[in-house]
Order: sequence, then structure tokens, then C-alpha cells
Amino acid sequence: MSKRIEDYLEERKILMDKALEELMPEPSGLASDVITAMNYTLFAGGKRIRPVLCIAGAEAVGGSADGVLPVACALELIHSYSLIHDDLPALDNDDFRRGKPTNHKVFGEAVALLAGDGLLTLAFNLMARHGLEKKVERKALLRVIDLISSAAGYTGMVGGQVADITYEGKDPDPTVVEYIHTHKTGALIAASVTAGTVLAGGNEEEIQSINTYGQHTGLAFQIADDVLNVEGNRDVMGKEIGGDKVRGKITYPSIFGIAESKHIQTAIVDRALEALDRFDERAEPLRDLARYIINRKL
Ligand code: IPE
Ligand code: IPE
Ligand code: MG
Ligand code: MG
Repeated sequence: MSKRIEDYLEERKILMDKALEELMPEPSGLASDVITAMNYTLFAGGKRIRPVLCIAGAEAVGGSADGVLPVACALELIHSYSLIHDDLPALDNDDFRRGKPTNHKVFGEAVALLAGDGLLTLAFNLMARHGLEKKVERKALLRVIDLISSAAGYTGMVGGQVADITYEGKDPDPTVVEYIHTHKTGALIAASVTAGTVLAGGNEEEIQSINTYGQHTGLAFQIADDVLNVEGNRDVMGKEIGGDKVRGKITYPSIFGIAESKHIQTAIVDRALEALDRFDERAEPLRDLARYIINRKL
């Protein structure tokens, strides 16, 4: 990772962690157990890529992190919920995430399920409250809520997750794997960066270009996740490797092999970069992030 993107990520990650700490409640009252479980995964040390992309999407058109923080936080809450549910025995049955035992391993399946529900609903509550405080152009915020809910729901992540499970152990099919990856992961990543551009007042052409960038980057991100599941390092990544093969998941390496998957990743990132052709140096972090996403080790 270049020093420049390393610093960029680190600075914005600190900003995000602080914003998330400020908004999350302390465990108390009868809901205490679920709040503890929500905080456990949220603060277990994620890379915060989606909120950072949201900020970078705003900066690319002259916006700032401040203007998008509540939405950036909401994106991380949705992502954290998806990880808790993804790890449940009914889905991927993973025991290790973000360097710690998975949520259900610590709190049990019932509380983990509810912690996911709590994070997902809090995300939308946060965006609604932001709108009520009138600090934001409401039409832009509603557009962003529409974008994010479509990306998280059955037309996006939930759709991808169900296909991921349904096709376990089935014959690898390139069309299916593309659907799974663009939906389970690509959709929320594309919505993250696009939301930033919308909130920062980007014009229609800019919004469309950033969305194209996000779709490609999101697909490349999941192909990289597949590759890391084969040749990554458990301790660096903070999650188990090798599970995709054991569970018969349809992945890019299972269809194309590792070397070809890496070629595909690179070609997709080139398309993401092309979508930024008309942007100036303010889009440099987005360019760096796309390259980082396929070169990362965690
Ligand atoms: C992991 O996402 C799950 C996928 C969608 C591939 P990240 O790699 O962004 O996980 P964290 O947030 O850094 O833990
Ligand atoms: C995770 O995909 C996608 C979502 C959580 C929506 P994976 O199951 O491939 O990701 P990891 O490898 O467990 O992080
Ligand atoms: Mg999964
Ligand atoms: Mg998984």
C-alpha cells in the first residue's frame, strides 16, 4: 500500500471510529445485552472501507467528511450487521472475525441475530434523525436512503447473500458468481461512494460516473476477498481462510483459478479508473482506493 493511501485511510478511519463511538449507546437497561453485542462487532477493528469511500465520493466533487459523517456511520452499521449475520451457523458458520470470536460465539445465536437487527435499524434511524436536524438537503438525503436501502435489501446485498447460500455446492457458473458478488458486496460499496457524491451536491453526470466506479470497485473487492480466502493470512486478516472451498461456495477462484481471478480483478479496476477520467485530482483518493482494494492483504 502506498504511504499516501495508507495515511488517507488511517486519518479517515480515526474520524469514523470517533463518530461511531459518539453515536453508539452504552449498554444499560433491559436491552443491555444486545447493545453490548452490537458494540462488540462494530468496534472489533473493521477497515471502514465503505464509510471512507463515502467520504472520498464527497471529496471528489468538492464536499467534505463532515457533511457525510452520519450517512458514513450508517453504512458501517449496515455492513457490521451483515457480517454478524453472514457468520451465523445458518449462513457461513464462521468462528473468527475482525480478529475476535464471531458475535454468536460470544453472545449466542439469538442475541447475535438481534444485534444485527439492532445495527440495521439504527442505521436508518440515524439517517432519519440527520434529516430531522435540517442540516442537510432533504431531497439529497432521501435519494441516498433510497440508494442505500435498495443496495442493502433483496435487490442488493440480501439478494446476493441468498444466492450465495443457494448455490453452495452447485456447479460453478460465471453468470451466477457475477450476480452473487455484485449483489452481496458490490451493491453496498457502490451505494457508499455514490451516496457521498449525492450528498456533496455532485451533478447527474458525476453521480453516474461515480456509481460506475463503485460498481466495478465493489465487484473487484469481492474477487479480492475470494482470493484472500485461498491465499490470505488468518492472523493478518482476522478471519479464517479456506472456508469457501470447504463449503463449496461459488467464487472467482473456484471458476477461473487464482491467476485468472487476479487478471479479472485488475481489468475491473481499470474500468473503475476509466469511469473517473473526467475527474480532477480531488478524485485521487478514489483512484488509490481502487488500487488498494485489489492489493490489500486484509
Ligand atoms: C468483508 O468486508 C465482507 C465482504 C463483504 C467481503 P471487509 O473486508 O470490508 O471487512 P471489515 O469491515 O474490514 O472487517
Ligand atoms: C460477505 O461475503 C458478504 C456480506 C457480509 C454481505 P463473504 O461471506 O464472502 O465474506 P467473508 O469472507 O465472510 O468476510
Ligand atoms: Mg458469506
Ligand atoms: Mg462469510
